Amino acid sequence: MKLQSPKNLAPLESRLTFPAGFFWGAATSAHQVEGGNHNDWSEWEKVTRHEESGRACDHYNRFREDFDIAKSLGHNAHRFSIEWSRIEPEEGKFNEKEIAHYQEVIDALRERGIEPFVTLWHWTLPVWVAKQGGWENKKTIDDFTRYVDKIVRSLKSVTYWMPLNEPGTFVGLGYIQGSRPPQVKNLTRANRAFKNLMAAHRQAYDIIHKVNDGALVGTANYAVHMTPYKNLPWNWLLIKILDYVRNWRFFATLNNKFDFIGIQYYHTDVINLKLGKGRWGPIELKNPNDWVSDIGWWIYPEGIYHLLKRAARYGKPIFITENGVADAGDIYRERFIKEMLRWIYQATSEGVDVRGYFYWSLLDNFEWDSGFTQRFGLVEINYKTMERKIRKSALEYAKIAKENAVETDP
Ligand code: GAL
Repeated sequence: MKLQSPKNLAPLESRLTFPAGFFWGAATSAHQVEGGNHNDWSEWEKVTRHEESGRACDHYNRFREDFDIAKSLGHNAHRFSIEWSRIEPEEGKFNEKEIAHYQEVIDALRERGIEPFVTLWHWTLPVWVAKQGGWENKKTIDDFTRYVDKIVRSLKSVTYWMPLNEPGTFVGLGYIQGSRPPQVKNLTRANRAFKNLMAAHRQAYDIIHKVNDGALVGTANYAVHMTPYKNLPWNWLLIKILDYVRNWRFFATLNNKFDFIGIQYYHTDVINLKLGKGRWGPIELKNPNDWVSDIGWWIYPEGIYHLLKRAARYGKPIFITENGVADAGDIYRERFIKEMLRWIYQATSEGVDVRGYFYWSLLDNFEWDSGFTQRFGLVEINYKTMERKIRKSALEYAKIAKENAVETDP
């Protein structure tokens, strides 16, 4: 596959070699892959008659088999999340068996030479936490910190921790758009939840460092690149505001309490100010949609380069903690990964300190309110038999991981 050399940049070398020690892996989250979870999401699935996560990929029981696959694909890192509702199903009552389960997960990764990157909250809450008002209730901050303290004391061998997955997306969809739990449409409540989430991250940061000096605590933050439809001052102004609110406000509220940055990039939006009704009031999307994933997102690999350049201002190591494509036919995935990596390489060659890439996801999985329809996996899941089948693109990604390099013109 021949990769495009970006405009105004030096022609591509035929082999793009990544910095030594680069982490190559994939990401998952508990509710999306484990199966058998009981939390605010599983309750919501029932009540709203959405497709139920149910057994999901049965990864809770098959994690060893799945990590064998990851190892065979040359992965040397893996991102997953711990399910709070398993650990603390009732307030203050920790389930030691479930903690032991996650210790086994970590051991299984280490035995295969795979570095664990652990998320402590990937969008699901124990039912008792949701009942007390979830992230709107200040008490949840202390409850979360107590859970984090317990986990970090128990799982001492983990270095890389991410307290929260995409708090911005969670608040946007759950409290502004109202399409996901807790299905609220209220800016004041959204703000309250966001502030509490930020406080929870800061407290988690302190606790993790107190318990484990060697730990590194980072973000797992959604970032969307935006460009103006036409080169007009009001479009640029709008993008400036949106860019801050959507991408960087998060960091401004963390008081420097992060040791690394996790960027999660899926799509770019072409923004136009339109005084009429658009997707978000006066904001209209004008994406060329020349390359679109199954889920309808416009794919624009160059976007990741711009986001990385912006993230570099914080002077911290950066990981791409999620980047992936819904592509049931496995038609675009290879090109998607290679072009993203081409732009990530460009950023590293300009001095941006990128240290790892986690494709979303290792497995096809439960895509939240879209159920099982969207297939992001390097590995295809047959949900009837739970059979795993490695996709062709996964083998291409494996070559990259094993060689620590992307061939641009084989
Ligand atoms: C992310 C999220 C993941 C996954 C992915 C694909 O925002 O963290 O859980 O669903 O999007 O939509």
